Amino acid sequence: MAAEEVTAHASHRLDLPRVVLRDPSPLDDDFLDLLGSREVAGEWDSFDDPPEEMLRATDFGGARQIVTLEDHTRVGCVSWIQIPYGPNAKSLAWSIGITIHPDFRGRHYAAAAQRLLAERLLRESPSHRVQADTDPDNVAEQRALTRAGFVREGVARGAQWRRGRWHDRVVFSLVPADLVDGAEVASS
Ligand SMILES: CC(C)(COP(=O)(O)OP(=O)(O)OC[C@H]1O[C@@H](n2cnc3c(N)ncnc32)[C@H](O)[C@@H]1OP(=O)(O)O)[C@@H](O)C(=O)NCCC(=O)NCCS
Repeated sequence: MAAEEVTAHASHRLDLPRVVLRDPSPLDDDFLDLLGSREVAGEWDSFDDPPEEMLRATDFGGARQIVTLEDHTRVGCVSWIQIPYGPNAKSLAWSIGITIHPDFRGRHYAAAAQRLLAERLLRESPSHRVQADTDPDNVAEQRALTRAGFVREGVARGAQWRRGRWHDRVVFSLVPADLVDGAEVASS
């Protein structure tokens, strides 16, 4: 998956703010460290496993990008990995994640960034599915995904080990049929 700068193209149809996704540079290291801290990532997205037990996104076709406003203000980051739904390449789905800096929450930037990322992944890869999962208590993320047009599918029970216990995860997805214009994704 090429990771170039992309600007919002579906946001106007969903009445979402415009955001930009761009590759990180070394100058973003401090910002990404801050987003990954327990203080910012919060109880639903921070882990205390030893480093050697953490999976590397790059082993799963993954990467991350910085979310900015059109004036280049950094507001957060998105990430994505591939997960298999069968033994063939076409059955690889994308699983996405997001963190928005606390100073910029509640302005629908998470909804906009996740919609933009999902559209791009569907447009630029053979995959037919983008999913996101979160804790049942993470209401903000569930509202953001719903606003972005994702469909709630159900609960994956006991799916995630985090901070000493197993957690249920609410699963959302976006497939081409959910896009406003049907199977064809708008081009940027
Ligand atoms: C989850 C997160 C990405 C949301 O970012 P955001 O930019 O504030 O999200 P949005 O503004 O697009 O949407 C948030 C929605 O939840 C609502 N909300 C926020 N906090 C809430 C709360 N505690 N209870 C209920 N609703 C809440 C907002 O009002 C908004 O609702 P609306 O669409 O009806 O206006 C952000 O809180 C975050 O980075 N959290 C830490 C990391 C994390 O949990 N990531 C997801 C892990 S799976």
